[in-house]
Amino acid sequence: MKKKTIKVGLLGFGTVGGGTYRMLSTNAHTISYTTGLSIEVTKILVRDLSKKRDVSAPDELFTDNPDDILKNPEIDVVVEVLGGIHPAFDYMEEAIKAGKHVVTANKAVIAKDGPYLTQLAIDNKVILRYEASVGGGIPILNALSTSLQANEFTEVVGIVNGTTNYILTQMAENDMEYADALKQAQAMGFAEADPTGDVEGYDAVNKLSILISTAFGVRVAPEDIPREGITNITKEDMAYAKQFGYTIKLLAHARRYRNTLECSVQPAMVPLGHPLATVKNEFNAIFAKGNAVDDVMLYGKGAGAMPTGSAVVGNLLEIARAYAFGTTDRTIPTAVNDNVNLQFDGEGQNMYYVTLLAEDMTGVLGKIATKFGDAGIAIKSFVQHPSTKQTGRYVPLIYILGETTRDRLNEALEDISGFTFVKEIKSVICVADLDR
Ligand SMILES: NC(=O)c1ccc[n+]([C@@H]2O[C@H](COP(=O)([O-])OP(=O)(O)OC[C@H]3O[C@@H](n4cnc5c(N)ncnc54)[C@H](OP(=O)(O)O)[C@@H]3O)[C@@H](O)[C@H]2O)c1
Repeated sequence: MKKKTIKVGLLGFGTVGGGTYRMLSTNAHTISYTTGLSIEVTKILVRDLSKKRDVSAPDELFTDNPDDILKNPEIDVVVEVLGGIHPAFDYMEEAIKAGKHVVTANKAVIAKDGPYLTQLAIDNKVILRYEASVGGGIPILNALSTSLQANEFTEVVGIVNGTTNYILTQMAENDMEYADALKQAQAMGFAEADPTGDVEGYDAVNKLSILISTAFGVRVAPEDIPREGITNITKEDMAYAKQFGYTIKLLAHARRYRNTLECSVQPAMVPLGHPLATVKNEFNAIFAKGNAVDDVMLYGKGAGAMPTGSAVVGNLLEIARAYAFGTTDRTIPTAVNDNVNLQFDGEGQNMYYVTLLAEDMTGVLGKIATKFGDAGIAIKSFVQHPSTKQTGRYVPLIYILGETTRDRLNEALEDISGFTFVKEIKSVICVADLDR
């Protein structure tokens, strides 16, 4: 006999759990119309039963005992929206072993243990889905693995962290220092009290790792992806970037080049005319380049209760449809493709923006240019600004340099900082190479 109701256990009732519950209630009619089934949340796990909640649900649904969900034979699907690695991973593993389908928004667990959980789901003939883990409400994983799956992808690049994009947008548009823009982001609820995970790029490397496995079929552990955060970006960098026709964005970038995969998360100069430069504040956007479809860009809200709830409920509906067609034991979740033999290379060639402070005297520019030349690095553009109160007797020198590796650039900069007339290297930011 076919099921009429899919029973769901929610692990967590915070931002995403609340949004998921609200969306299931608000759109119940559409859900039963599109699937012919109803989706019913029968238990909700929280840490603190006495906490006041933004979204209301009947008291009897709440529990602080995970066994009420994981060991409950009536529950078909477990939605994990707790966050963190443990106990989230352990609960997902237990649920899959118990034959329950799992939907999660947890990028940290999927980036770290996605391949293991995927295989476990295949072995246990259940479905594992994690659309909300990358890009919140943007259906990028589904697009890459269904509608675009016939393509061979050569590039995935995007803005995948709303907190840093909000901070950088405020710095660019309102001439703010990083610290002030961060405070504003915290006041607006776009940054957490401890923003490290976002501003240092940890969140983005988790998402890039998931994008890489989905687009290229290879696994690169998040800790192996070169990562740099946005904490050293200054409002002067933003102003200089604008003068050269760029803005600065935290980009998650992976490119397949023959048998090599280059990837990084780092602040990058994005040409003002490029669509990624127009992605502002908490919005996210991801570009994928396929060998048939060419460029596709998905844009939308990368976080928040309802956008993320939309992705979670979309995954739940996929599972509901599998029930409707009696195919839950045959659905194979997106798997890492062992046949793809790409060599991982942490760093490719990039153009770079470099600023330094040097004494304003004859011969300085020539000596610096010679050091760059000796390292085989071309100077593409150069501007010298007058000294200010902050810079004292030193003047800011701003360079856009031709393609080089970061290692070669670092060596040249070490030589240059050895000159007595150079006070300091202020900034080094890569120029995004988005047209290759
Ligand atoms: N927030 C977003 O916009 C967003 C976007 C995309 C993906 N995500 C991902 O979604 C997940 C959830 O994020 P969130 O923002 O919804 O988190 P959150 O607001 O902090 O909510 C976490 C929920 O899990 C419960 N919880 C945490 N640890 C628990 C434990 N050990 N036992 C029982 N309950 C526990 C909390 O219970 P109490 O309420 O009792 O404290 C709370 O209800 C994370 O993996 C996050 O990365 C979030």
